[in-house]
Amino acid sequence: MGRLDGKVAIITGGARGQGAAEAEMFRDEGAQVVITDVLEDEGGKTAGTLGIEFLSHDVSSAAAWEAVVSDVIARHGRIDALVNNAGILRGARLVNTSDEIWDQTVAINQTGVFYGMRAVAPQMIEQGAGSIVNISSVAGLEATFASMAYGATKWAVRGMSKIAALELGRHNVRVNSIHPGLINTDMTSEFDKDRMVRAIPLGREAEPAEVAAVALFLASDDSSYCSGQEFTVDGGMHR
Ligand SMILES: NC(=O)c1ccc[n+]([C@@H]2O[C@H](COP(=O)([O-])OP(=O)(O)OC[C@H]3O[C@@H](n4cnc5c(N)ncnc54)[C@H](O)[C@@H]3O)[C@@H](O)[C@H]2O)c1
Repeated sequence: MGRLDGKVAIITGGARGQGAAEAEMFRDEGAQVVITDVLEDEGGKTAGTLGIEFLSHDVSSAAAWEAVVSDVIARHGRIDALVNNAGILRGARLVNTSDEIWDQTVAINQTGVFYGMRAVAPQMIEQGAGSIVNISSVAGLEATFASMAYGATKWAVRGMSKIAALELGRHNVRVNSIHPGLINTDMTSEFDKDRMVRAIPLGREAEPAEVAAVALFLASDDSSYCSGQEFTVDGGMHR
């Protein structure tokens, strides 16, 4: 028995990194998984390797969200879990944060999550069940350097998750946020990790599967009474 048997899951930004790890784990637990991404070649390859579905999708487009959700409902009849995982990190301090950095970061990391929740909520309400997992960051729990735009969006994701949880709870739709610390993906490949791990109690970065395990818990019925909460996956960094 898989922990997601019979469930249909959409995972954004699933071409690589944490999204791909979540897709593999969700598939292994019995879900029908649809990954979406702007990286068409990589997304197609990941889906082919995992034996799941890929849809080309820019999360910052409301029209693209409507197309993805209609397509999944037309083919699978339901949506049980949405992992709003897609995101970008463009490091810049306050005085160096251009309008362009700000606008793009907000469009993808914040508006993308809003569009995603808004697009799946009617179907989940109709089903009387659903789980939305929004990927924030430790940068959505505390101040971090050179993250004016990124941090703003990750704090917003944390807040939007709680508001959605409040509104959707009566429909048995749960909404939670995950706050990863330092995860070994393309996003962090150029970080000075030796310096960073010294501030992490567990003394190391995490592999994407370690975040995926928490996303799996939140997408599954194992977390049936968890909503509106923050789940840190950061080796003890935030304290
Ligand atoms: N890596 C870390 O240490 C870390 C820490 C905290 C939070 N996060 C968050 O985790 C999530 C996953 O990041 P990751 O570490 O796997 O990095 P990643 O860069 O490997 O993956 C991000 C994915 O999102 C996709 N994406 C970007 N813009 C998109 C758009 N407009 N529409 C659809 N897809 C888009 C990318 O193409 C990529 O496949 C992000 O939200 C990130 O902010 C990462």
